[in-house]
Amino acid sequence: MSVIKTPKTREDFKAYYALRYRVLREPWGHPKGTEKDDYEPISEHFMAVDETTSEILGVIKLHEKSPGIGQVSHLAVAPEHQKQGIGKFLIDAVEKRARELGYKTMGAMARVTATAFFEKHGYHIAGIPVPHLGTTHLVWMEKELNP
Ligand SMILES: CC(C)(COP(=O)(O)OP(=O)(O)OC[C@H]1O[C@@H](n2cnc3c(N)ncnc32)[C@H](O)[C@@H]1OP(=O)(O)O)[C@@H](O)C(=O)NCCC(=O)NCCS
Repeated sequence: MSVIKTPKTREDFKAYYALRYRVLREPWGHPKGTEKDDYEPISEHFMAVDETTSEILGVIKLHEKSPGIGQVSHLAVAPEHQKQGIGKFLIDAVEKRARELGYKTMGAMARVTATAFFEKHGYHIAGIPVPHLGTTHLVWMEKELNP
């Protein structure tokens, strides 16, 4: 069974960023460091962890984009654990936290390859795709959060 945890120790953060890098940057040969953005210090970080093995299965982060609007980013599930509900588990956990924080809207700069995943979870495209790191395009998607 998997549980949601927040990374706390240096080792937790190393493993957290390593998974992010492996899924979101390494396949395109991007250098180490590109897996982080300017919002790390003001973000809340979440990881889905296998309770038995302590393996990190997926990661996501949340920050306040503007008053009342939460932004999720860097959602990544380990390839060998995709299509097992981990992505849904993470997004549900982050939306729960966003409601606790009083956010009315949730958004994401989604990879164009992941828009169907976000649509499945109630998001709609609300922007124009923009190039990202020369390898993919991102598009703003959002949904209203019901209390
Ligand atoms: C996109 C991603 C986070 C989805 O995570 P996942 O754990 O594989 O997804 P889940 O198993 O929780 O899927 C939940 C639902 O979304 C659907 N889904 C998952 N990925 C999908 C996709 N790319 N397109 C359409 N539907 C998708 C599943 O079929 C499932 O539907 P169901 O509930 O009807 O069975 C994961 O595939 C991933 O890390 N991809 C590479 C990195 C990436 O693109 N991250 C997003 C950056 S914006």
